[in-house]
Amino acid sequence: NKLNIAVIAGDGIGKEVVPEGLRVLEAAAKRYDLSFDFKEHDFASCDYYGRTGEMLPEDWKTRLEGSDAIFFGAVGWPDVVPDHVSLWGSLLKFRREYDQYVNLRPVRLMPGVPSPLANRAPGDIDFYVVRENTEGEYSSIGGKMYEGTDREIVVQETVISRHGTDRILKFAFELAQSRPAKHLTSATKSNGISITMPYWDERVEEMAKNYGDVKVDKYHIDILTAQFVLNPDWFDVVVGSNLFGDILSDLGPACTGTIGVAPSGNIDPTGRFPSLFEPVHGSAPDIAGKGIANPVGQIWAGAMMLEHLGHKEAADGIVQAIETVLSEQKLRTGDLGGPLGTVDCGKAIADALS
Ligand code: NAI
Ligand code: MG
Repeated sequence: NKLNIAVIAGDGIGKEVVPEGLRVLEAAAKRYDLSFDFKEHDFASCDYYGRTGEMLPEDWKTRLEGSDAIFFGAVGWPDVVPDHVSLWGSLLKFRREYDQYVNLRPVRLMPGVPSPLANRAPGDIDFYVVRENTEGEYSSIGGKMYEGTDREIVVQETVISRHGTDRILKFAFELAQSRPAKHLTSATKSNGISITMPYWDERVEEMAKNYGDVKVDKYHIDILTAQFVLNPDWFDVVVGSNLFGDILSDLGPACTGTIGVAPSGNIDPTGRFPSLFEPVHGSAPDIAGKGIANPVGQIWAGAMMLEHLGHKEAADGIVQAIETVLSEQKLRTGDLGGPLGTVDCGKAIADALS
């Protein structure tokens, strides 16, 4: 039972934090008796674009064939390639063509990471944001009329399908069911958006019938964002449409401190395609090449990948090792007020695991 992992470091600090992610995955393999086959790829980077004029080779799907998952760093080098070119040419292609319809982000206050919210301690904030990743508000249906006149109109339709809604809700309900609190919150706006959002609510009610042990509530997106900041301890699993989930999945990690520690999964739960795990942060050109980037977001993404692949014990082991290391000021990176660089912090987490 070898795990075949495609490794794409990408650009900037992606190239510095991915090796630390691999170091910790190797340590987890030893401790939990797993075995990895890592296959590194140089595409989906701006270097690759510089050499070839493309972000991905034409046969990228063939090259990724047989991968159980993709372990991704970060893409983007805006001085050389415009961000919409690098992002649409790589990450967004993976998301769409591999039908990674779940974007999953843990929101958890870790020890040693100061929360911008007052009076919050580790344990107070521990929930997931589940974002629909393929349809909703981000459709390409619409257009412009009467261009250049004072009657100019632009329209962009929201597409909420039964299939797309039910599959994201099913994932979110199952996640809620697997957690001690068994509590699902739905993000809606059915008071203002009078066609698509009441339908979303209806599908939530329908799906809830299959999960009698899960407590369900819903909030309109405006007050929900306020409650994220005021009462983050109220939440366990929060599910939202593409746009609402996008907003919540940045706001959530922001409530738990530095961007350097947050991970994210782009998941096809059916297993038909490989899922992609990455840190929330980007390539950080301002600190790239200095060896000071925090590797925790990348390492935690590795834990999410293992959990997705059915190795929950190993995943929990990695998260625990991260917590152990973050608890000690002398083992943190500079963004958290510690003295260590990227490599030494990665080594400390690997050691804590062994
Ligand atoms: P960014 O996340 O790269 O950086 C934002 C700020 O956070 C910077 O000051 C950076 O130094 C700091 N930071 C980020 N990660 C850190 C870490 N691990 N440790 C310590 N500090 C860290 O976002 P930015 O600057 O908006 O984007 C830079 C490039 O990254 C752009 O090309 C953008 O398109 C790309 N990007 C790629 C993403 C991806 O691959 N999924 C996600 C976000 C941005
Ligand atoms: Mg976003």
